[in-house]
Amino acid sequence: MVNSAKPPASAGAELQKQREYASLVRHINGLRPMKYCIRTFGCQMNENDSERLAGMLREMGYNEANAGDKCDIIVFNTCCVRENAELKVFGHLGALKKEKRDNPDMVIAVCGCMMQQENAVRQIKEKYGHVDIVFGTHNLHTFPELLYRAVSTGERTYDVWDIPGHVAEGVPIERKDRIKAWVTVMYGCNNFCSYCIVPYVRGRERSRNPETVIEEISSLGSRGIREVTLLGQNVNSYGRDIGYEKGFAGLLREVDKIEGIERIRFMTSHPKDLSDELIQAMADCPGVCEHLHLPIQSGSTRILREMNRNYTREHYMDLILKLRAKVPGISITTDIIAGFPGETEEDFEETLDLLERIRFDFAFTFIYSKRAGTPAAEKEGQVPAETVKDRFDRLVRVQNRISRQINDRLLGQEVEVLVEGTSSSNKRMYTGRTRTNKVVNFRGDESMVGKLVNVRVDNVQTWSLGGSVV
Ligand code: SAH
Ligand code: SF4
Ligand code: F3S
Repeated sequence: MVNSAKPPASAGAELQKQREYASLVRHINGLRPMKYCIRTFGCQMNENDSERLAGMLREMGYNEANAGDKCDIIVFNTCCVRENAELKVFGHLGALKKEKRDNPDMVIAVCGCMMQQENAVRQIKEKYGHVDIVFGTHNLHTFPELLYRAVSTGERTYDVWDIPGHVAEGVPIERKDRIKAWVTVMYGCNNFCSYCIVPYVRGRERSRNPETVIEEISSLGSRGIREVTLLGQNVNSYGRDIGYEKGFAGLLREVDKIEGIERIRFMTSHPKDLSDELIQAMADCPGVCEHLHLPIQSGSTRILREMNRNYTREHYMDLILKLRAKVPGISITTDIIAGFPGETEEDFEETLDLLERIRFDFAFTFIYSKRAGTPAAEKEGQVPAETVKDRFDRLVRVQNRISRQINDRLLGQEVEVLVEGTSSSNKRMYTGRTRTNKVVNFRGDESMVGKLVNVRVDNVQTWSLGGSVV
């Protein structure tokens, strides 16, 4: 296994080299119609990385496989934030063993966060010998070179960089959606929340240059993209590492001026860094949607300290008051972990109490998952599985009731929906989101796709709304 510790010096030369490898792969494949399939696990940043994988594959002459097509290459872009994400990947890889025996020319590649952990790479090497290519998050852009090496030699090709290089700009990208786009504005995380593996697998914070971000979004706007979501593990610290003094609030104001972009979203915000300037920018910029995802993780200040989150329950509640005062009608969503080591029934009840006081529109709830190498994994007082499961169920019950009650209040109201297309479960129904990020299903037609329409809400569920166009 190659494990290069150091990235090469010049980003431009590196990309040029990759372009040359892409044309070599195209040459080897000749006129054969090559098909790819990418399976993505984890967060939106991984979704965005998969769009880059798709862009590179397209440059190498591959097209996306339709359901039922045989794939010439299958890529797993993995996540390791919780154990079940990893188990899913191993499950899929195991199921491919037989297919690889029947079709030995099919290339299997595994990349993403999980591959930045030596242990996972070792397991693949030892137990999943049918995997041809392994690479990590820091060398995603070297995929053409790795694929070339694998197809030209037939040998297993492993290359994971320990440290990130320059932010690789200019990697081709094949976007999934015609209406909305993900735009990663910074990579990595410096926060080291004690339960979290992300800083270990994504490295330190690296902001993209603001001019490059603006250029990319302007070009998206001119190509018909109506909504962008700016991505980073902690967008509130955008620009600090590159001396961009206007910070994330300044970037938002710039993005708001771009023609064609009707809606701007961003995630994720860390409560310790949510500044008054950012709240003011949200209030001032017409394009910035009235929605904020602000993970709280726990309602107990003691547990927040153990989590190394650097804010208190009271600070978080103050932020919510400010947000609601400055941005009327804002919807607020969050992430919560149940069963962090040492969490007592009293700590947990503080979280439940906070849900009742704040009344989030939605909460992503997680069962604490022990991640080897993080400080929390070594803590005393790991909570027994049955207790965690019970707390998790109680969280879900309380939050579902609140989400439903909040949605109930929308009954009969008119909401502005950006139409995304037909609904996945019923092709006769169209679907889109409100500015507050709520899913709305309604009867519509193809001409509405990509447009803003007003819909009167006439039925309400916990996670979605239904209505008719007015
Ligand atoms: N950077 C973002 C979130 C990244 S991970 C932030 O700080 O908010 C998304 C969510 O996964 C986290 O907010 C957290 O709630 C959850 N998570 C992370 N590590 C976890 C773990 N070890 N066990 C359970 N949930 C975890
Ligand atoms: Fe993980 Fe915390 Fe960084 Fe989010 S801010 S990615 S939870 S370490
Ligand atoms: Fe998972 Fe990596 Fe995202 S660990 S949550 S895919 S940054």
